[in-house]
Amino acid sequence: MTPPRIVERVAELQAWADAERLAGARIALVPTLGALHAGHLALVREARRRAERVVVSLFVNPTQFGPGEDLARYPRPFQGDLALCRDAGVDVVFAPPAGEMYPPGAQTWIEVAELSRPLCGRDRPGHFRGVATVVAKLLLAAKPHVAVFGEKDFQQLALVRRLAADLRFDVEIVGVPIVREADGLALSSRNVHLDRAMRAEALALSRSLDAAEAALAGGVRDAAALLALVGRELAKAPHARVDYAELRDPESLAPAPARLAGPTLLALAVRFPVRGADDPSACVRLIDNRVLQPESLEECP
Ligand code: PAJ
Repeated sequence: MTPPRIVERVAELQAWADAERLAGARIALVPTLGALHAGHLALVREARRRAERVVVSLFVNPTQFGPGEDLARYPRPFQGDLALCRDAGVDVVFAPPAGEMYPPGAQTWIEVAELSRPLCGRDRPGHFRGVATVVAKLLLAAKPHVAVFGEKDFQQLALVRRLAADLRFDVEIVGVPIVREADGLALSSRNVHLDRAMRAEALALSRSLDAAEAALAGGVRDAAALLALVGRELAKAPHARVDYAELRDPESLAPAPARLAGPTLLALAVRFPVRGADDPSACVRLIDNRVLQPESLEECP
């Protein structure tokens, strides 16, 4: 495979995109923070299915990290990422310095008001403002026909869809299902911070999603009963600190009704201690989710 072209400047990426568009090529963008894993690579595969040219952005966006969060600790294995991009047939790796995305004096922000409020938005003030702003900048830089995001960050995907619709971006937003380890743990760049014991405890997330799905299949429609079940599963992990475990509408993210009637998002965020870190209060925050489908299950004979 030919190695991808590495681009650091927005103007260079825009000129490349203009030339590709002129030549009739479709462009797909896969935005990432880097530290690529099989979840990201599933997005790249989807991008390649949908376009002739694939751009992967590797940019640890500082504005989506809060003051006490893991910006400094976020893994940045650039050479490894580059090799994975080469093997996956990526055409362009966009790896801008922070000053390129946020020029000196930058003061323009994009806020997706309602969708930014619940779930991760409540626990991470300003996070989605940073995400929405950088995604808009990346779309303007890469000029893609298609942009691919993971359902792992379900709220982020909902927000990006809204952003693209509200600003009338001429781009198709595509979601890709969550990629998991064989034992169910959702792949995440942050999993590297889990030691063996915490990794074992982290399986509580996917197990609680499975338990809720099984209960639903068994006829439980009561939201409180499903959440109680999830709480019991999560409590089996003694070090887990639950930020949220909630049932919500998959599009509006409004709270689900007391009795589930249609597709319902079950979303989780759970923190685990990072043992052996310099800071004894360091923790890793994992998210996971599943869209529960009561209707389709009811239709089964
Ligand atoms: P990052 O966490 O690097 O994730 C990049 C993309 O990979 C996101 O769309 C995310 O949902 C997807 N992804 C991560 N783990 C996945 C998994 N296990 N299965 C499927 N998809 C997965 O999300 C971000 O970066 C940033 O917020 C970004 C959109 C790049 C803006 O800075």
